[in-house]
Amino acid sequence: MCGIVGYVGPRSAQDTVIDGLRRLEYRGYDSAGVAVVRDGLLAVEKRAGKLANLEKVLIEAPLPRADIGIGHTRWATHGPPNDVNAHPHAGGARRVALVHNGIIENFVELRGRVEADDHVLLSETDTEIVAHLVELQVQSGVDIVTAMQRVCQQLDGAFTLVAIDSHEPDKIVAARRNSPLVVGLGDGENFLGSDVAAFIEFTREALELGQDQIVVMTRDEVLVTDFWGNPVQARQFHVDWDLSAAEKDGHDWFMRKEIFEQPRAVADSLIGRRTAAGKLQLDEMRLADEELRDIDKIIIIACGTSFYAGMVAKYAIEHWTRTPVEVELASEFRYRDPIIDATTLIVAISQSGETADTLQAIRHARSQKAKVLAICNTNGSSIPRESDAVIYTHAGPEIGVASTKGFLTQLVACYLLALYMAQVKGTRFGDEIDEVMRQLEAMPDHIDKVLQGAEQVYELARSHVGSRSVLFLGRHAGYPVALEGALKLKELAYIHAEGFAAGELKHGPIALVEDGLPVLCVVPPRGRDHLHDKMVSGIQEVRARGAHTICLAEEGDTSIEPYADHLIRLPGVPVLLQPLVAIVPLQLFACELATALGHDVDQPRNLAKSVTVE
Ligand code: F6R
Repeated sequence: MCGIVGYVGPRSAQDTVIDGLRRLEYRGYDSAGVAVVRDGLLAVEKRAGKLANLEKVLIEAPLPRADIGIGHTRWATHGPPNDVNAHPHAGGARRVALVHNGIIENFVELRGRVEADDHVLLSETDTEIVAHLVELQVQSGVDIVTAMQRVCQQLDGAFTLVAIDSHEPDKIVAARRNSPLVVGLGDGENFLGSDVAAFIEFTREALELGQDQIVVMTRDEVLVTDFWGNPVQARQFHVDWDLSAAEKDGHDWFMRKEIFEQPRAVADSLIGRRTAAGKLQLDEMRLADEELRDIDKIIIIACGTSFYAGMVAKYAIEHWTRTPVEVELASEFRYRDPIIDATTLIVAISQSGETADTLQAIRHARSQKAKVLAICNTNGSSIPRESDAVIYTHAGPEIGVASTKGFLTQLVACYLLALYMAQVKGTRFGDEIDEVMRQLEAMPDHIDKVLQGAEQVYELARSHVGSRSVLFLGRHAGYPVALEGALKLKELAYIHAEGFAAGELKHGPIALVEDGLPVLCVVPPRGRDHLHDKMVSGIQEVRARGAHTICLAEEGDTSIEPYADHLIRLPGVPVLLQPLVAIVPLQLFACELATALGHDVDQPRNLAKSVTVE
């Protein structure tokens, strides 16, 4: 959601900023803009729509060659996505240009102040007001850094701000509160980005900015302070993936590439989790074993796909550790007055590490003395930084807006957490944990096998371009898979899709079933007969009412054949691990159906990769 780029150095500022914005496109946006300073003058260009619209204008009329620039992709909050509301915004005298990610909550009051000073505002954005406020400060005689400090002290809400002043053309100043920003450290050049993808082409050394911090950047120097100018030590880190990881690798969509990367992503997420003696170890886990032993309740908080990973985790953690688990949408958590204390473990699952709802939920939990453990894919992001412990998922960069490998690696991290807690609490014997680890280590091969059947799923998907509604059914750990399969279809193909627990069908949803309605059914493995047979009964019920049943069932399960109009085979795996293979055909189905419908799979309408506003 909103991408921010800044550059100072010898390259063309316009081109470097546009390159960075292109790498941030996946975050979701509806307008884009760039500003540079040359010969004491500000030059700004911005356009509604995709980056290509802006690039077209810049090819015809490039901005002056400059060595300092800022850029922005905007996801509209205040005011519709048009040229005027696009960022960067300039102050009234066109001395300062500024871009912003987040929401300024006291903007009405600030707007009143600015307008009372006879400033004319051109846009409907909260950002333009901040540009005017910063410019007012520099016009009063202070430098751009002091101006930024003074303005930040007046702002409420969430913001990353990046500004340039045409009278100080050697520096960029940026500030962050509750919104992401990282610094890329180059040699004789420096970068800013909403995430490291913005500058990964040029440097893999980065600096993590903390809450309420300001960074001033010239070609050769990066200085971080708080909002009052006191120097602070920012953490430097090395990015362990490179540009090729962020490219499409011959696939038509990032999403498709990421689906096919899942065997590797799952394998990477398992590397280094066992000692030479075979015991589980979670290196980044900063909670002591005694603290974990004291935990008597776990609450998992997350949004969207990460929430569904949390639902699977509940089955695994309760089964292996006998510790009660609640799973809660992060956006609801704070508002229900949850019962938490020092013996509650909050597990916050987030691919991006920047989801505002999840971030606010963990802050609330910590204020109630609960311990927070993050499961996250993004090193240096806010959620792990504000948690007591973290398990990183090692999926590599996920660019497609719809989460795929992020989900699978979250599942792996959840299984690891559950098994680690079982080891610490002594609720499972060592050889049982070993056995599950062996089964987990075999999963990359099983996922690979499912991917080899992609063509069959694609064909099936293409035959559904005319479908207006699709249902997904599952039971036990297959229920969250059904929900996730439906979410993928909704967000990519814009088709009405709903996931149900199969046992709940007859309590209402079965009324939706009519002739020809496609129903995708995740059939549990046969080992757990009561689950499997109940699911088969559910499938018979919908088929008897005219549904077209597409069943995902393990190899050798012949009992399902009479009731499946279409059968997709899954490798035989334990029921708790089945989500790792069962979701893959559903991802392929949604990706291919959306492609056949002509949709932009990587950037579905109205969606943002990282939802940094509540
Ligand atoms: C769906 C999807 C979203 C995210 C949700 C949480 O494909 O990607 O539902 O799962 O916005 O995002 P993170 O995991 O970054 O907190």
